[in-house]
Amino acid sequence: MEFEVVRSLRALHSAIARHRNGPLNSAASLAIVPTMGAIHEAHEKLIEEAKKHADIVMASIFVNPKQFSENEDFDNYPKSEREDIEKLKAKGCDIVYIPNAELMYPKDFDLTINVPILSSVLCGESRPHHFEGVATVVAKLLIQSNADYAIFGEKDYQQLLIIKTLVKSLNISCKIIEIETVRDDYGCALSSRNSYLSKNNKKIANQINVILKNMIKNYTIGDDLTKLKNTIKEKFISEGIKDIDYIEIRNEENLKESSTDSHNNRIFIAVHIDGVRLIDNMKLNVT
Ligand code: PAJ
Repeated sequence: MEFEVVRSLRALHSAIARHRNGPLNSAASLAIVPTMGAIHEAHEKLIEEAKKHADIVMASIFVNPKQFSENEDFDNYPKSEREDIEKLKAKGCDIVYIPNAELMYPKDFDLTINVPILSSVLCGESRPHHFEGVATVVAKLLIQSNADYAIFGEKDYQQLLIIKTLVKSLNISCKIIEIETVRDDYGCALSSRNSYLSKNNKKIANQINVILKNMIKNYTIGDDLTKLKNTIKEKFISEGIKDIDYIEIRNEENLKESSTDSHNNRIFIAVHIDGVRLIDNMKLNVT
């Protein structure tokens, strides 16, 4: 079947129908990989994962204005549509859906989906309406595509949990699949925003994962979590990462405050390096 780029809902639905009824049959399954474009290797890994689960794979590219606040980088968010399409095609994507803001949010659009408890902590504290924007757009994409699977990355762990809750609560029949955080050769989590970093600031950013890994490698159940967070904070500062939004250890199932005896603890961090907001998270392994 031919690779298709579609920009309207009608075109999306007929592309999906063509693929479902083409050489495959109507029982063919569909996976969606929602993105904001600026496709990098982590997005490509999501496509690879999607192909393992479904017969038809689609990606969406939409820089969602509702998940950016006024002082954020919506206007400057990296855009590379032509290259994105080529990369997605090369990875074996069948359909790329590129809706515009009009389509997603017509003038009379009046709906916000909120997952309030999970959205109130970590990134939700410093980005107050961010996760409402994410939940609203992801719900729309899942409903518009009627995909059987949707693939997301653990790099945005809080987003992943919010999407799982949203799908469960709205009884959307789409299975959410996650992949581990994809990192570059320095261990730095890939992010479209890494392209904003100067060479020197990227070197500083590379220290995030080095410090986290070093600090948690000897973690054992019962360790003092406040002490662990404080040591990480000191290390960050000494490596030039001074603008720290948060360093938190939470229960990875519900983002509640963790207890020292839990086996589900995960560390979450958000920092700014020269104004660029970077996040990362790692499970505290218990051996
Ligand atoms: P975006 O930042 O483009 O990310 C799209 C998908 O790629 C998300 O599932 C994200 O978790 C995943 N991803 C990004 N970097 C990753 C990395 N280093 N390792 C693993 N996965 C990674 O996240 C969004 O867009 C938007 O919020 C979206 C869900 C599309 C809604 O607008």
